[in-house]
Amino acid sequence: MTFDAAVVRKDFPIFETETRGKRLVYLDSANTSQKPRQVLDRITQFYETENANVHRAVYELSEKATAAYEGARAACARFIGAPAPRSVVFTRGTTESINLIRFTWARQNVREGDEILITEMEHHSNLIPWQLFVQETGSILRHLPIDDDGRLRTDLLEEYVTEKTKLVSLSLMSNVLGTINPVRTIADAAHAVGAKVLVDAAQAAPHLRFDVNDLDADFLAYSSHKMCGPTGAGVLWGREELLEEMPPFHGGGEMIREVWADRATWNEIPYKFEAGTPNLAQAVGMGAAVDYLEGLGMEAVREHELELTRYALERLESIGATIYGPRELHDRGGVVSFNVEGVHPHDMSTIVDQEGVCIRAGHHCAQPLMRRLGVPATARASFYIYNTPEDVDVLIEAVEKSKGWFA
Ligand SMILES: Cc1ncc(COP(=O)(O)O)c(C=O)c1O
Repeated sequence: MTFDAAVVRKDFPIFETETRGKRLVYLDSANTSQKPRQVLDRITQFYETENANVHRAVYELSEKATAAYEGARAACARFIGAPAPRSVVFTRGTTESINLIRFTWARQNVREGDEILITEMEHHSNLIPWQLFVQETGSILRHLPIDDDGRLRTDLLEEYVTEKTKLVSLSLMSNVLGTINPVRTIADAAHAVGAKVLVDAAQAAPHLRFDVNDLDADFLAYSSHKMCGPTGAGVLWGREELLEEMPPFHGGGEMIREVWADRATWNEIPYKFEAGTPNLAQAVGMGAAVDYLEGLGMEAVREHELELTRYALERLESIGATIYGPRELHDRGGVVSFNVEGVHPHDMSTIVDQEGVCIRAGHHCAQPLMRRLGVPATARASFYIYNTPEDVDVLIEAVEKSKGWFA
């Protein structure tokens, strides 16, 4: 089946609605994506026919709920090439997954004077946890610089990845620049000094096919809500041997094996990290989102987004917009941050909203990156499977209109 965004769009009920009385042009999928009927129906089906708590009861309904939940885990594992479902921990999303590593693996393995390396382009969710961690432990946080094109300075790896480095935590794809980072190169450098690698795949998972083995990652995090799934679900994948050695994250029901008044032993992985009743329907919905994306084919998704990005870059350039991030199309995903002289991005997004266009304006949860780029904010259009060239045309017209307002 050839990919046709106009057909895909029909799977998404939200596009039957209008905004400001206009056709909805949703260009904020890097923030959160829209949800197809297949995912919404799966969640409803779960509540209507399978709802019970998982892992706790022997009656048939609970078995059905457990099968649905574990089926979703298997799908989430398959999606990233994880060797086994048991290496996939369900979390609330990327932010929680990164914090899980902060409170478990990092506490166990990173000491005063040790270094954690992130990059200048990280989302706050891969920055703040480490700022807090180094404040608590006396370890040191370093930031691999980017060049003026928005690429990581891999030429500086020798200087930044040293015997002191214990963890390198970086995004596979930037939510601001769209840059797709050479994670494997960085993982090789990290492993050469015995450091572990945590990959923030929040932006990559919805758009790119990748494999944790090819990346040679040790941990990898992604979120359901950016890839057609519901909010409140996400994944932390980890190498089994690392997960086995890590202490638990939250304490409570489900994560234990045997409990006495004053102590307890822990359940096997991944349940050791899933205290309490999980976000069951959300996890099941996330599994349905994986099935949906696999049905479209991640290669086709990528091809479609490359085409749209190529077109958007061309058109934005033609109206004199400043574009941030790599110019080489194949080094970037479908996230385009830009500025137009004389129009503040916040004003622009308010004006284009009048035309039915949803874009994000601001620092995109990456304030240090904004400082590096020398701007307080950017506008950002981000594309997904349901966007069409027509959406780009509407965006450009609306941006032109915003220029007119301030001329
Ligand atoms: C690169 C990146 N990392 C992490 C996150 C945080 O994801 P979540 O809010 O789903 O936890 C985001 C969200 O925008 C992101 O773009």
